[in-house]
Amino acid sequence: MSQPIFPLVLTGLVYEAGGQALLKGITAEIQATGRTLILGPNGAGKSLLLRLCHGLLKPTRGRIDWCGQTEARRDQAMVFQRPVMLRRSAMGNLTYALACRGVGRAERRRRVEEVLDRTGLAAKAKLPARVLSGGEQQRLALARAWVLRPQVLFLDEPTANLDPAASLAVEEVILEIQASGTKIVMTTHDLGQARRLGDEILFLCDGRLVERKAAASFFSGPESPEAAAFIAGRLTW
Ligand SMILES: Nc1ncnc2c1ncn2[C@@H]1O[C@H](COP(=O)(O)OP(=O)(O)OP(=O)(O)O)[C@@H](O)[C@H]1O
Ligand SMILES: [Mg+2]
Repeated sequence: MSQPIFPLVLTGLVYEAGGQALLKGITAEIQATGRTLILGPNGAGKSLLLRLCHGLLKPTRGRIDWCGQTEARRDQAMVFQRPVMLRRSAMGNLTYALACRGVGRAERRRRVEEVLDRTGLAAKAKLPARVLSGGEQQRLALARAWVLRPQVLFLDEPTANLDPAASLAVEEVILEIQASGTKIVMTTHDLGQARRLGDEILFLCDGRLVERKAAASFFSGPESPEAAAFIAGRLTW
């Protein structure tokens, strides 16, 4: 196991694009334990925040520190809302991800078989990834991240466009990934899912971190009018 990368410390994070401040000074500390859910209306800055944390974007101002380390990238993985699968089999997508990390052939095979099994995709292993259903592709995207054994997995709307049964299947995989020791940081629009999966909530609105609370107290007693309206379904953008 590589060196621990948590806590993740965000200090005065500002992101500007197109002459606009899109994230307006976010300060927070995220610990290795528990599932952290980022909630907020459309356009609040949730996806931007995940991308910054994952190092895909550079902050305009402010800092992102991983336990004082600068080289935490190798221990992170991210699954996007619309994951892109390579033109290979389901199994080939996983093997390729490991080959890119320099993992040897025997170890690759062992790890790939294990995650295919644990994500319920063993029977689909040889099919071209792109013919899998939406829910299966989403589970494959999770498998492709999981097989890397990251310390943290960022998930951006992992169940958007999935039906309730497929969403629950994805949630089960997320719980298993966490149980294997990976920190989960995710966004969702599904309040039911946020209640099921959230340990702590970061509530963003208009590029600001408006509330940060344990999930139970966020849902039972939001402090800000924006969060109260969001929970009541009255704040959608
Ligand atoms: N490169 C860019 N240039 C200008 N504006 C941008 C850029 N990238 C993002 N934005 C804007 O920043 C805001 C936040 O975007 P972001 O994708 O983080 O929202 P979000 O909270 O993930 O919303 P959703 O719930 O719809 O996914 C949006 O208003 C978006 O239009
Ligand atoms: Mg988004």
